[in-house]
Amino acid sequence: KRRKKRYTYESLTETAQYLLDRVPYQPRIGIICGSGMGALAEALSEPLIFPYEKIPNFPVSTVEGHVGQLVFGYLSGVPVVCMQGRFHYYEGYPLWKCAMPVRVMKLLGVTHLIASNAAGGLNKTYKVGDVMLVKDHINMMGFAGNNPLQGPNDDRFGPRFPPMNTAYDKFLTQKAKQVAVEEDLGGMVHEGVYTCLGGPNFETVAELKMLGMLGVDAVGMSTVHEVITARHCGMTVLAFSLITNMCITDYNCYDEANHEEVMDVGKMRQDVLKRFVARIVDFIAKE
Ligand code: 6GU
Repeated sequence: KRRKKRYTYESLTETAQYLLDRVPYQPRIGIICGSGMGALAEALSEPLIFPYEKIPNFPVSTVEGHVGQLVFGYLSGVPVVCMQGRFHYYEGYPLWKCAMPVRVMKLLGVTHLIASNAAGGLNKTYKVGDVMLVKDHINMMGFAGNNPLQGPNDDRFGPRFPPMNTAYDKFLTQKAKQVAVEEDLGGMVHEGVYTCLGGPNFETVAELKMLGMLGVDAVGMSTVHEVITARHCGMTVLAFSLITNMCITDYNCYDEANHEEVMDVGKMRQDVLKRFVARIVDFIAKE
């Protein structure tokens, strides 16, 4: 089986240049919208929209509920770029392809990444609709030998062996927690450990019990490879999970996780999340 060649620094520069030729400013902040949270992108003023299929070298998104476009615009008066729809491993893309837009953001001039996702709550104190600020992750796919940084390293992005102990910016996370309390999200905001599994199936009871023992608070199918790629190239990262369902760790419970529920909770919480992200963007711009 022949593997397609990875993106080069030059090809990603071409992609960034295509966008910069069409956008009259450089965004400082990149935002990745999680499942059901695409409305975040609709909060931008003076939007400039680029469907992924129109952008040179971009993969194309296939999952239902994800539009699949880059949206440039102003949030809290700050120029930002939003991924409305991301690339998931379960769609069949290798991790380096899933995380490719993060490097494009870097080349656009983005210094701060805000990554959101929909996740299952494993921590019993969490409730559906809560927000979990990611304080750390467990790269389960990395344990299995799969990582977006595999292959020859290009030092123009970052070092061969990047540290990950400071992946999630402590200062920004603290500020986000404060904003959440002020925006009346308080009590519904947690800090926890996220893990990404390949999907597309949701987990078995035994798998979730195992993850719980490992100290995981929320489970999803994204973000970790994007964050690794962002930290590799020196971006400051804030990530949060919207808890869209509680993980079922009881054999006597016959409820089942489903995608509709994930999308519905995203929509239910979109207004408060818009305000939350707008406030964080405002803070980053003023810092
Ligand atoms: Cl329960 N598991 C995973 N892997 N992803 C999810 C989820 C669960 N709920 C929302 N996204």
